[in-house]
Amino acid sequence: MLQSIKVSAPGKLMLFGEHAVVYNYPCIVTAVDQRVYVEAGFNGKDELVVNAPQLGIRDYKRKVSQFCDQEMPKQVNFIETAVRHFYQKYGLKKGLEIKTESDFSHSYGFGSSSAVTIATVIALTRLYGIKLMEKELFDLCYQAVLDIQGVGSGFDLAAALWGGTIFYKKGAETVEQIKVKNLPMVVCYSGVKADTPTLVRQVAELKRKHPRKVKRVFEQMEVIVWQARELLVEKKWREVGGLMNENQMILEELGVSTLRLERLNKAALEAGAWGAKLSGAGGGDSMVAICSAGLKQKIEKALTRAGGKIITVKLNSEGARWKEN
Ligand code: MEV
Repeated sequence: MLQSIKVSAPGKLMLFGEHAVVYNYPCIVTAVDQRVYVEAGFNGKDELVVNAPQLGIRDYKRKVSQFCDQEMPKQVNFIETAVRHFYQKYGLKKGLEIKTESDFSHSYGFGSSSAVTIATVIALTRLYGIKLMEKELFDLCYQAVLDIQGVGSGFDLAAALWGGTIFYKKGAETVEQIKVKNLPMVVCYSGVKADTPTLVRQVAELKRKHPRKVKRVFEQMEVIVWQARELLVEKKWREVGGLMNENQMILEELGVSTLRLERLNKAALEAGAWGAKLSGAGGGDSMVAICSAGLKQKIEKALTRAGGKIITVKLNSEGARWKEN
């Protein structure tokens, strides 16, 4: 690689409002301190070359003139689609070398695809010296993600770009930083990888069949999100926990929870957590519990005994960052 740029972007954890956010209700998402890294530079050729050794992707090659929608590994798909959108917008042609690494497994549901999309587009703006407003950058990435997944609110892109803990509405219509410092939460992987688009479509189907019921449930979710926003700032953790339990009940009503996730929630609550819920689309991925510092170890042990894998992460972490080499 000639001159290169290294960008990192954080993964995320959904705290409140999942699924409802797809239908323009607000949610609260926090960035985690586990990050995805993208190193990009020109390679003097006419092709995009991608290496993601942790995902078994070595020297994936595609001619810049032949970007298309055909089958390719998932991570490469997000990178190539982001590059394609950027190149089409600005009429660019130069070949690129892109290498990615990640602090976390893509199974956790931390949003590695969104983080890699944001990091790729930031790298391109720096390499080409193209100035984009943050919202323009977000929009380009959101289009790329929608191209691939067809559905989604873009909350994970917002966490990757801006970091912190965000009160968010679909398409970054609202992005407000919530002033919190440390969130006293334990995060645990359920051991099952979930497929977000499938679960989003499952809820869409439920909504089609039972529009009034789902509308009522989403409205309850919205109330929870607004209350959580205040209680987080006031550090009323016990009450935040109560809202997490309510949010979980709603997700159970929507049919996206699983016995495995519920077993983990129960283990955390029995060990003294103030609240516990699945985080994200459901069907698997991770859950999160809130507790006093004194009970953290006990809760982590209970979650491990119940079959979960504790993920040591700090929440409310910083957004995308870059360095020129
Ligand atoms: C998935 O982690 C969260 C959902 O709300 C989907 C989305 O907002 O894109 C289910």
